[in-house]
Amino acid sequence: MVIIISALAIITETFAQNTIIINTDKPGVVISKHLYGHFAEHLGRCIYDGMYIGEQNNQISHTDGVRNDVIEALRKLKVPNLRWPGGCFADTYQWKDGIGDKAKRPKIVNVWWGGVTEDNSFGTHDFLNLCERIGAEPYLAANVGSGTVKDFSDWVQYVNFSGVSPMSDLRQKNGREKPWNVTYWGVGNEAWGCGGNMKPEYYANLYRQYATFMTGSNLFRIASGANSSDYNWTEVLMREIPLHLLEGVALHHYSVIDWNKKGSATDFSEEQYFKTMQRAMQMGELVTKHAAIMDKYDPQRKVALVVDEWGGWYDVEKGTNPGFLYQQNTMRDAMIAGVTLNIFQNHADRVRMANLAQVVNVLQAVILTDKEKILLTPTYHVMEMYNVHQEATQLPVTVESVMYSNGNEKLPALSVSASVTTGGIVHISIANIDSHNELPVEIQLGAKHFKTVSGRVLTSEKVNDHNTFEAPNKIIPKDFAKARFKGETLVAAISPCSVVVLEVRP
Ligand code: AHR
Repeated sequence: MVIIISALAIITETFAQNTIIINTDKPGVVISKHLYGHFAEHLGRCIYDGMYIGEQNNQISHTDGVRNDVIEALRKLKVPNLRWPGGCFADTYQWKDGIGDKAKRPKIVNVWWGGVTEDNSFGTHDFLNLCERIGAEPYLAANVGSGTVKDFSDWVQYVNFSGVSPMSDLRQKNGREKPWNVTYWGVGNEAWGCGGNMKPEYYANLYRQYATFMTGSNLFRIASGANSSDYNWTEVLMREIPLHLLEGVALHHYSVIDWNKKGSATDFSEEQYFKTMQRAMQMGELVTKHAAIMDKYDPQRKVALVVDEWGGWYDVEKGTNPGFLYQQNTMRDAMIAGVTLNIFQNHADRVRMANLAQVVNVLQAVILTDKEKILLTPTYHVMEMYNVHQEATQLPVTVESVMYSNGNEKLPALSVSASVTTGGIVHISIANIDSHNELPVEIQLGAKHFKTVSGRVLTSEKVNDHNTFEAPNKIIPKDFAKARFKGETLVAAISPCSVVVLEVRP
């Protein structure tokens, strides 16, 4: 039994093999690099003791208090945007507490995450300068839940205004002459939950008010979006917010097996793996249905669907603070990343921005740190392998795939997306979620002629394998030698539980 998957249709039929048809003659939209965004919240050891170790630290190499190894890893990853300071934390954050003389900044309690005291030593300047250093655009999630319109519009003026004003004067007094010109702004976070437990109608009204007072050019305003399949939330927002006030609508979806029984990040059964894949693949249905609602009110697709929180969520590692959400990252997470990025790329006409939760030491992190040690997770490597798709042109893909089963439940084993560069190089990303079977695939590339193929693969013997501080390179991308041309057809053998990126040249 195999299934045919295209961006729009799912048809079940019987085929002898796995076939991938890539329509190189009909390129689609440009895949926004912003699909590859990350998220840094004041949560656990993400900012403090993860990225930021303080200017006084003389044990670990840093620039203005931010670890140089983290900066280097993020630069290499080509992080296009970084969301900050939350998350739930965003709707408690008073940005004025985090500027000026660090010794005089007020201490606050992080009420959402662990109840720990923070000294505000990492604030607006620290974050925006870090973004400059890693070459990412900042995405500021501003406080709506417990803030005011004035606080919000002051922040916009503080970071963006180049003329004379109270806020730009204050910025200059604090050492930054030129504005940072921040484009991406989140108007609150999870307004349906930690952002204020609001009803969508109430939030839509608030959004209109806040968005009105965000002045300046080139602003990209993102409304706090739905939780997974809460389609009514998207419906109300799209109906109630005029399009001239809106550039993006968010969506949050985590690949959680069961919110009351998440399970271990590393010690999990095949059934738990399968369920995680089910939840990850649900993203396809979610973006399709939210996008269809958006199409009703915005047929020209001006407004982007911004999946600004996604990823796997498990029990915290033993012995760590339950409020810090620190978890290991295995090949299961690499598969979540491969499958999810394929979905985003296949829906790139509407999904134009996304943020993996979270960048360092929290949830599905790409980097883990332990004092002076650092490791790059399997998820990091998938995001790095896939970054060849950033700003390339999407190619329509149809997949005939065998099924990966667990009891009576089935999922297509193969997930695929493809793009072409301006120079005509085609990249094909393939994830095989089947944890037992290597899958032979035939790839048809349309009427255009291609001659050479190379590739990289990320895989490991077991799905719960992971990198540790003792063995940080157990799982790293390797050259992929199992693809070749057979006439005009490309044939490949995709290892069980692996993510492959092929590069095909004319
Ligand atoms: O990413 C962790 C938390 O998950 C975020 O703070 C919140 O927005 C979501 O519920």
